[in-house]
Amino acid sequence: MIKFLDLQKVNLQYQEEIEAKLLEVFRSGWYLMGGQLTNFEQNFNNYIGAKHSIGVANGLDALRLILRAYIELGIMSKDDEIIVPSNTYIASILAISDNGLVPVLAEPDIDNYNIDISKIEKKITSKTKGILIVHLYGRIVFSEELEQLAQKYSLKIIEDNAQTIGAEWKGKKSGNLGDAAGFSFYPGKNLGALGDAGAVTTNDEELAKTIRALANYGSNQKYVNIYQGLNSRLDEIQAAVLDVKLKYIDEENTVRRNIAKRYIGEISNPKIILPENPENEREHVWHVFIIRTENREALQAYLTENGIQTLIHYPIPPHRQQAYKEWNDMSFPISEKIHQEVLSLPISPVMSDEEVNKIIEIINKF
Ligand SMILES: Cc1ncc(COP(=O)(O)O)c(C=O)c1O
Repeated sequence: MIKFLDLQKVNLQYQEEIEAKLLEVFRSGWYLMGGQLTNFEQNFNNYIGAKHSIGVANGLDALRLILRAYIELGIMSKDDEIIVPSNTYIASILAISDNGLVPVLAEPDIDNYNIDISKIEKKITSKTKGILIVHLYGRIVFSEELEQLAQKYSLKIIEDNAQTIGAEWKGKKSGNLGDAAGFSFYPGKNLGALGDAGAVTTNDEELAKTIRALANYGSNQKYVNIYQGLNSRLDEIQAAVLDVKLKYIDEENTVRRNIAKRYIGEISNPKIILPENPENEREHVWHVFIIRTENREALQAYLTENGIQTLIHYPIPPHRQQAYKEWNDMSFPISEKIHQEVLSLPISPVMSDEEVNKIIEIINKF
């Protein structure tokens, strides 16, 4: 079976370095808020190009903390609206509603699966305070038009960068395009930890300071609490592992780009809709390689029979989830079509040419 993602193989590439770090942390007797975290945050800043990065417990917390900090700073308040793509992974939306803010769903562009920037302005009201863009599947969504819109209406641009580490728009990395960004280092992400982990990046010093306190019980100074914060920290083990893997992320993303190029160039079955390769290939890091077909269930079953594991990102749109019952009758036709038709093919830095050959050959025979 060609696995969707062979995580063991991904991490074994760096076995010696990672094991040495694990042992170092174990023997140090210091497991939280220590040198490994400081070191990773510094290297992460250098990589992303942002002034501040704050390691946190996971990607959902990273987004929750950004919005919560804007509330604490008086920039947003309860019932304010945040525009978010209607086909995103649910976590982007949870981060908004968890803060008492109102998610306003906007449809994606069917050609690239990212929020359709031309549809955002119609969604802006006097309550809108931000746009949570999601660089979905590894592809950046950004434009001058978006920046102008944010400026015109004084909106914060928050990047959900859970899926897109290392991508660049006009020479700037995703995570350094808007006002603040949330990252996930969930094990299956392009930069994955050995458990849950996440980070926030921003160039806004006050925001960074507020998030750092909020993530540590609302405290900047032991036993002195400024906010009703939470406990959301990136532990020393995860920080150390991430620091090792960060050095190789560009190489790994290049392997992903090469596989994507082969799929796009060599899958020729007319029943399959392939994803767009952006003109500037640096805008995509291919976290997920999405194809579409009207006959998804049959294709998935056929690929399984032929030893190819696939996944669906995602089967149910957020507005059809029980968690958001109040939206169940709303209609987002583009999202619905995407959720009905998408299928994710294996793509990873450890796939062999033979595996890629086989996937292309089998799909072309479907
Ligand atoms: C788009 C998006 N946002 C947010 C998250 C949340 O990240 P985490 O799983 O680390 O909480 C994910 C992760 O799966 C995601 O894909």
